[in-house]
Amino acid sequence: MSRPLGPIGVFDSGVGGISTLAALTRELPGENFLYYGDTRNAPYGTKTTGEVLACVRRVVDRLMAEDIKALVIACNTATGAAAAALRRELTLPVIGMEPALKPAEEAWQGGHILVMATPLTLRQEKFLDLMDRFGAHAVPLPCPGLMELVEKEDDAGARAYLSEIFSAWDLDRVDAVVLGCTHYVFLKPMIRRMLPARILLTDGNAGTARQLRRVLRERNLLLPDSGQGTLRMETSGDAEALLPVMRRLYQRAQLIET
Ligand code: DGL
Repeated sequence: MSRPLGPIGVFDSGVGGISTLAALTRELPGENFLYYGDTRNAPYGTKTTGEVLACVRRVVDRLMAEDIKALVIACNTATGAAAAALRRELTLPVIGMEPALKPAEEAWQGGHILVMATPLTLRQEKFLDLMDRFGAHAVPLPCPGLMELVEKEDDAGARAYLSEIFSAWDLDRVDAVVLGCTHYVFLKPMIRRMLPARILLTDGNAGTARQLRRVLRERNLLLPDSGQGTLRMETSGDAEALLPVMRRLYQRAQLIET
């Protein structure tokens, strides 16, 4: 009996997960991907866990209709809200994300770390557990409103937002900044320029891509690295307006180092 080998479903509340998608297609150039941005319901990060779970279930129903062989939650907020429930309910592999605090702590043991993420990510039990394990010197930095600036490609607005939040810190005493939301990875080159060069910036995209490869290999679902993989994108928002933006951001994401 032949097993259906549909695409790998990847989703986020909007365009943020496209930064993750670029890392996934780089790591797995033979795989087929279907990216879904739930823009109509964005942002997730200022909703309740229950509201995000309901949004995620609708997205997953849509992706399952395409026979996806694995699911990547390219969103820290949705992972905290929904990954455990989805893993109980689905038989396919579910790969989630968390703020990359562990690599920041490992690189700078005892260093001061700022964790930028959505308000909901920082409230979730999953994050509090992570803080217990690796966050003795970490400070959560909620960034409500920042994802919207990335969605609008408003670089001037993002620069003003970031200057304001960083001005509250003595940056000479900060050793690492964790980009704990996939949207913020688009701002990485800008943030890099705003911070002293010695500050480490971490995000979870490359780790997620390696984890996806590992899980696909374990489950015998990995396609050869042919370079012939395909990519489709969908959105719950206005496709005509958003798909060109999503494609443009996918190109932009190729240039960001993770
Ligand atoms: N990109 C999402 C994350 O990684 C969240 C953005 C949002 O919808 O608030 O958390």
